[in-house]
Amino acid sequence: MTEAPAQPRRLLVRDLAQLATPAPASGPMRGAHAGDVTILEGAYVLCEAGRVVEVGSMRKLGPLEGGDVEELDGSGRCAIPGLVDCHTHACFVGDRVEEFALRARGATYEELHAAGGGILSTVEATRAAGEEALVDAVTRHRDAMRRHGTTTFEAKSGYGLDRETELASLRAIRAARGVPTWLGAHAIPPEFDDGDAYLDFALAEVLPDAARLAAAADVFLERNAFDATQARRYLSACRETGLALRLHGDQFTEAGTIPLAIELGARSVDHLEATGDAGVDALAASDVTAVLLPASALFLGRPMPRARDLLDRGAIVALATDFNPGSAYCESLPLVASLAATQLRMGLEEILCALTVNPARVLGCADRKGRLAPGYDADLVLLGEPDWRYLAYHLAGDVVDAVLLGGEPLALG
Ligand code: NIG
Ligand code: FE
Repeated sequence: MTEAPAQPRRLLVRDLAQLATPAPASGPMRGAHAGDVTILEGAYVLCEAGRVVEVGSMRKLGPLEGGDVEELDGSGRCAIPGLVDCHTHACFVGDRVEEFALRARGATYEELHAAGGGILSTVEATRAAGEEALVDAVTRHRDAMRRHGTTTFEAKSGYGLDRETELASLRAIRAARGVPTWLGAHAIPPEFDDGDAYLDFALAEVLPDAARLAAAADVFLERNAFDATQARRYLSACRETGLALRLHGDQFTEAGTIPLAIELGARSVDHLEATGDAGVDALAASDVTAVLLPASALFLGRPMPRARDLLDRGAIVALATDFNPGSAYCESLPLVASLAATQLRMGLEEILCALTVNPARVLGCADRKGRLAPGYDADLVLLGEPDWRYLAYHLAGDVVDAVLLGGEPLALG
């Protein structure tokens, strides 16, 4: 007797008060389309084998043919796509609460960094931890992100800066199902005299293996970190191996990040708190995504990035947490949504696109993530609120009621 093939699992999320999703589009949501969101009142989502197969209004839902369908009651709740955090530094151990206390009394982030604290103090703790502790750390931070509705996260290495810890960090991020970025040029570790000598080592000894583990490479282009010449050298070598390119830039000073990103065809420039008019215009005319990190600007007391100018001039904008122990100890994209609405003056529809499709594009997975539409992964957030806009409206609220990843409800703990 032959066994009948197993039915793919089907799940109907029904009677949703609302469903909000970025509208269909072939490219990124920008310009006049930056806030194109489709809203259905009284909606359902049908998932099969981990994918969305149908989205629609309850009043149009006909009988479902062919086998068992599990049901999940969405009454009183709103569905949005699983959020995509395209910029985190979730692979570290230890904390920087002492530094935070000093900053609260007036010390600046840059002063602490120049004095050998800051990033390098996390490097010391992370090097001492071992790979198992790194896997535990990323997994724990990922679980916190999930509780806030993040279903896809990027995480960077950059707290090892030696061969062993950088590669262990990338493996740990993969083990936690994150999208790994090699931030091999984050800071100059103490055993090297200068950035050039460190890059000689990193490109010869780490890049060949990092390129097999990571999806992208990133650099911190800033005074007291790497300059534009060093960043060009590092990113060009990474691009040769097939890695996508990202840049931390214009956080404190404009040091040539935007022209370099455009020249090299980078996926994104992230931060942009110090960007002037020419930078805004150049980004707006390019396909490089501006990744804005308002939780980091808030945490460091820095000016907010010029989101309104970027959007109004047509740039592609994404939002992310920048979760890390020094400049943004915050895993919550709903909090970032609130900051985007109140500090960046972004429209709530623009915010939804900047937390879903646009960051998915930065991570190279926009064909599967960031929308509730047939063919996309069944990654859903159910907000326990009557209107999807509570995502930004409920400041530090406990808005996330349930999270589905590939059609499976997650235990949020
Ligand atoms: O994006 N600025 C560079 N890197 C991180 C901070 C890392 C840290 O302080 O540990 C950032 O803000
Ligand atoms: Fe960062």
